[in-house]
Amino acid sequence: MDADLIRLVNQLQDTFANLGGELDMPQLAVVGSQSAGKSSVLETIVGRDFLPRGSGIVTRRPLVLQLIHTPVPDSPTQTYSEWGQFLHIDKRFTDFGEIRREIEQETFRVAGQNKGISKLPIHLRIYSPNVLDLTLVDLPGLTKIPVGDQPGDIERQIRSLVVDYISKPNCVILAVSGANVDLANSEALKLARQVDPQGRRTIGVLTKLDLMDAGTNALDILTGRVYPLKLGFIGVVNRSQADINAEKSLADAHEAEDDFFRTHPAYRNIAHKNGTRYLAKTLNQVLMNHIRDKLPDMKARLNTLMGQAQQELNSFGDAAIYGDKNQQGSLILRLMTQFARDFVASIEGTSVDIS
Ligand code: GDP
Ligand code: NA
Ligand code: MG
Repeated sequence: MDADLIRLVNQLQDTFANLGGELDMPQLAVVGSQSAGKSSVLETIVGRDFLPRGSGIVTRRPLVLQLIHTPVPDSPTQTYSEWGQFLHIDKRFTDFGEIRREIEQETFRVAGQNKGISKLPIHLRIYSPNVLDLTLVDLPGLTKIPVGDQPGDIERQIRSLVVDYISKPNCVILAVSGANVDLANSEALKLARQVDPQGRRTIGVLTKLDLMDAGTNALDILTGRVYPLKLGFIGVVNRSQADINAEKSLADAHEAEDDFFRTHPAYRNIAHKNGTRYLAKTLNQVLMNHIRDKLPDMKARLNTLMGQAQQELNSFGDAAIYGDKNQQGSLILRLMTQFARDFVASIEGTSVDIS
């Protein structure tokens, strides 16, 4: 039931994106300084290697990533249990290395070969038995000093792009900070606080715990004694650049992360509330609660949109049904109507008043 609900929300989002519009749906957005580990965190949540990542400015367009849980195939003839699908290209990607190359190419195509950024998002769906149902947005890192061909006001441009996503009241913010940097200087938390001053919809993610100076630890931060966030802080250990160069698998990385928390003298008592797996579980729970809170709003919005679309269709008259061009319009309307009906029915068993 909960998984179905999220799937419906995802369908609605795509429908509106195809119509050139936008429906203000719940999302999880990843925010942080350049190289804080945003893309690494997303990749470990998905459980596959597929994001361009590394030192320097790699993420230069927003990536809207929908994770869709699929059942494990029960027959050996069923292959392709894990695949990716972009909105901009009609193709099923089963090679995750190819997904990474497609993201890179799409980034270059729109944001240029150098260090430029673009607000235009890339939409990608990942279908897999190994993911929980989540919609995540990977965002360009916050930076201060222009490099390459970047304009002098690059900091302002990136801030404005990030704020576009995280200022929506129904955006859950994953504020990623490196544990090897003083938390007081965390750009992620500064920006999150601007749009979520009471820390109601911000989750603190602390990366690079393995890179802290010897003799120091982040126990006070992870237990909420340093910075107040209702949803708390979760510590993770991602693959280092050396791990990536050595092609360390994600499975090995998860195991190493588990070991890190279970054997660390400062963290072993809170090991069950940290790590990538715990983060993924927490995210799914938070998203479901969030959607549930927003249901009355969404229903009202859908009713309005349906009413407007119906009026428009009525004004076309017979042309809407027989005309070539308008036939497309009515098809889209029917699709939207179907989604809306299913959507509202799944919420509370009532139907939208549309005809
Ligand atoms: P982004 O710019 O925020 O998306 O950061 P990336 O995920 O691309 O990571 C930047 C660099 O930091 C990469 O070389 C990663 O391997 C490295 N990195 C990220 N998280 C960790 C971590 O928890 N520990 C270590 N040692 N390195 C990390
Ligand atoms: Na990076
Ligand atoms: Mg990145």
